[in-house]
Amino acid sequence: MIVKKSRVVIIGVGNVGVTTAFSLVTQGICDEVVLIDINEERAIGEVMDLSQSIEFLNRNVAVKKGTYEDCRDADVIVMTACAPMTSDNNRLLWLEATKGIVKGIVENVMANGFDGIFVVVSNPVDIISYYIYKLSGLPGNQIIGTGTSLDSARLKCFIGELIDVDPRSINAYVLGEHGDSEMIPWSCVRVGGKDIYSIIRDNPWRITEEDLDKLLKKTMQAGWEIFNRKGNTSYGIATSAVGIIKAILQNENKIIPVSALLSGHLGEEDVFIGVPVILNRTGAKEIVELEMTEAEKQLFKASCDHVRKYYDMLGI
Ligand code: LAC
Repeated sequence: MIVKKSRVVIIGVGNVGVTTAFSLVTQGICDEVVLIDINEERAIGEVMDLSQSIEFLNRNVAVKKGTYEDCRDADVIVMTACAPMTSDNNRLLWLEATKGIVKGIVENVMANGFDGIFVVVSNPVDIISYYIYKLSGLPGNQIIGTGTSLDSARLKCFIGELIDVDPRSINAYVLGEHGDSEMIPWSCVRVGGKDIYSIIRDNPWRITEEDLDKLLKKTMQAGWEIFNRKGNTSYGIATSAVGIIKAILQNENKIIPVSALLSGHLGEEDVFIGVPVILNRTGAKEIVELEMTEAEKQLFKASCDHVRKYYDMLGI
């Protein structure tokens, strides 16, 4: 009997790729982690460093430098390759440079018969996810962008700090673009099952309506606050990506806000955008269509329209 090994291929071993690999290995999420990078020596160095840490971990995850042939049997490909981050506070400005990098990679991956799930991290993530969907010809459920998973995690941290509650006890989603048009459907936010407006009413010394707008702005700026201090962001995004990969490989049916293909959901068609999605072995199994207020629906629609404006630049 042959037991199939679970394999995650990471394309691009910059800060995010390597932190994703480290997190996969230390959490023991899969059997094999394969690293591919245009700089082969860098990839070999990272493989050596990661594999020599196994003695002290819970699982003997195999780490190796790979080629595109390793994509054939991969369960998940993590796409982290993108143009270098710049401090212009707008991920959309990286589209032109990243698009060329991504195109060549996807062609190589598909030429090797990949039929697993793409987890897309490369920014601007919503547009690059759509691009990979079009280039690969894979069904929409097999393309998942990290989308607003990190923004939602950040939002929960900030709400938690304000009201002194563990972020994991907060149910809150940032929807739309992973960028400046993202929005928060506050009517859907719950803390311990209690809605945010009742919390504001009952605890005005902790949180007020004015704080909601500040929380959105703080969430939007969070990546730049990190970037401007350390020159990149890595732990948050890599941990989000690994949470998504775990939900896929372990068939969790966990709901995570990711960039997924909308086909009539929430009134939107043919767009990749951040929405809560049930994730399992099939990828994006089902989109959760939140009940939003009219004003929230408009903000969400505006974010979808904003992202769509960039599709022309993809030339597909
Ligand atoms: C961030 C990058 C991943 O927000 O966009 O940290």
